[in-house]
Amino acid sequence: MLSLHGKHSVIISRIPVMQNGLGGVMTRHFPDFELTYCSSLQELTLLQLRRADVIIADIRAPDAIIKSEEERMKHFGDMAAYFRALWDRRSKESPKFDLVSMLAHSEVNKNMTPMEFLGTLTLLIVGGNDTTRNTMTAAVMGLNENPEQDALLRSKPELIPALVAEAVRYHTPLMHMRRTTTADVELRGRKIAKGSKVVMWYISGNRDEERIEDPDSFRIDRNKPRQHIGFGSGVHRCVGERVAELQLRILWEEILTRDMRFEVLGQPKRLYSHLIRGLLTLPVRIIN
Ligand code: HEM
Repeated sequence: MLSLHGKHSVIISRIPVMQNGLGGVMTRHFPDFELTYCSSLQELTLLQLRRADVIIADIRAPDAIIKSEEERMKHFGDMAAYFRALWDRRSKESPKFDLVSMLAHSEVNKNMTPMEFLGTLTLLIVGGNDTTRNTMTAAVMGLNENPEQDALLRSKPELIPALVAEAVRYHTPLMHMRRTTTADVELRGRKIAKGSKVVMWYISGNRDEERIEDPDSFRIDRNKPRQHIGFGSGVHRCVGERVAELQLRILWEEILTRDMRFEVLGQPKRLYSHLIRGLLTLPVRIIN
């Protein structure tokens, strides 16, 4: 079994170097979600990112990859069947270091209802996939727009964790979540009645000038880089936070080890969504 470092190395080494218009390389060719879910590269290719794309697709988008909810349900069915087979395989095998194996062997999760099973996997796919891959692209963009930060990173690789935190804050790949209030509350003079549906805009909080100094700048030398709400807060705070940070840290360690540089050649193509701040493609030239 390859270590995470090993898996990232394999994927990075597959990227064609000095090729223009690498649409989607950063967003599509680093399927990080699978790196933690599966024990083999073969499975990694089987669990196509398309599943996540379908789950979050807005069917009203001009370039939607699915055109109806029926189509989405068909994909859900295929996905459930795929994961059920993977789950069954994992539960029969001895425990392995991947999330499906850990869930399948855990006392709490091993007897989920079909709806709980599908809900859990859907959350893990979207939660663990779109967020992390978009943060990768966001870091490339942030460093390109701020060459002095890129130089700083290369002279001080110990700033990689701060780069990861800053990319999550600055980009905020998951822009909001909705909650229903369980009590009457007053917030900055506004009364919100019990039972109201409220939206928490993490993307706004992450640019709050009262809490974050110079919030509209991309800076990897902040005093407390992890003080942001890109992973949410409270009981539903992201369960994958540490996994995401680990993956992103390893990715940048591998990139710096190879002295790989990215030159952004044009504007990104953005995902049509109010939930995921997604970058579908970003043309880059990779230099090393
Ligand atoms: C940069 C990467 C990531 C970002 C920015 C991110 C962000 C978030 C946010 C904002 C929430 C909502 C928190 C709330 O409701 O208050 C969340 C929840 C969640 N995330 Fe992440 N996430 C990331 C990576 C991951 C990864 C790698 C996984 C799984 C391996 C994951 C799994 C989940 C799950 C299962 C939830 C639901 C937790 C719950 O409702 O109790 N996320 N994430």
